[in-house]
Amino acid sequence: MRPLIAGNWKMHGSLSEAAALAGAIKAGLAEAGAAELLVCPPFPYVQPVIAALAGAAIAVGGQDCHAAAKGAHTGDVAAAMLRDIGATHVILGHSERRANHGETDAVVRAKAEAALAAGLTPVVCVGESEAQRLAGEAEPVVTGQLDGSLPEGFAAAGGVVAYEPVWAIGTGRTPTEAEIAAIHQAIRGKLLARFGAAGGGLRILYGGSMKPSNAAAILALANVDGGLVGGASLVAADFLAIAAGA
Ligand code: G3P
Repeated sequence: MRPLIAGNWKMHGSLSEAAALAGAIKAGLAEAGAAELLVCPPFPYVQPVIAALAGAAIAVGGQDCHAAAKGAHTGDVAAAMLRDIGATHVILGHSERRANHGETDAVVRAKAEAALAAGLTPVVCVGESEAQRLAGEAEPVVTGQLDGSLPEGFAAAGGVVAYEPVWAIGTGRTPTEAEIAAIHQAIRGKLLARFGAAGGGLRILYGGSMKPSNAAAILALANVDGGLVGGASLVAADFLAIAAGA
């Protein structure tokens, strides 16, 4: 399947830096090979980035949305608002949101349902902590998160799963290729069991210290259908180089 390379810009940059980064990615698009590209800027920069990418085949998404369609939720953003301004995807259940905002699997599932209702493609993140990995619990933790976080309509809408081991995020450390392959195989098995044949066509991204030097090997693994890139997605040349390795 066509790989998806997604950039999670997290809470970085300024308006001018976001526009410049988008412009540089657009200008270098030919270097990205056949991969599909997605960038997820901070909320205030979503629309300016969509404008900066006009005419380029690069999708833009949010980094979160609320579970409700609208209402008295100060500081929150509805999925339909993201869709309204031209976003097509939304990252949900990132470990930083699970940790910083207490998001449970049930909350992530409700947000994913809202995203589907609004016509956004949810990119649902799962991943074990270092303690869980060391205790040999990585696989049950991840499959348990999938059980709790994925809504019924997920496969029909082409939802995306991102496996991000928490201890690999922003640390420069990654699991071994065998460890990544094992978890991705378990995720695929879970998707097939839950959604039938449709689960075989869903993308499973790897995220966590992905960079140009390790991307090609990771992206070549079975059931690794793309990447969710943090730090390296803030440098256009690195983001494009990762995509070229897919
Ligand atoms: O969502 C992407 C992310 O958490 C990985 O971050 O900086 O390790 O690539 P990074």
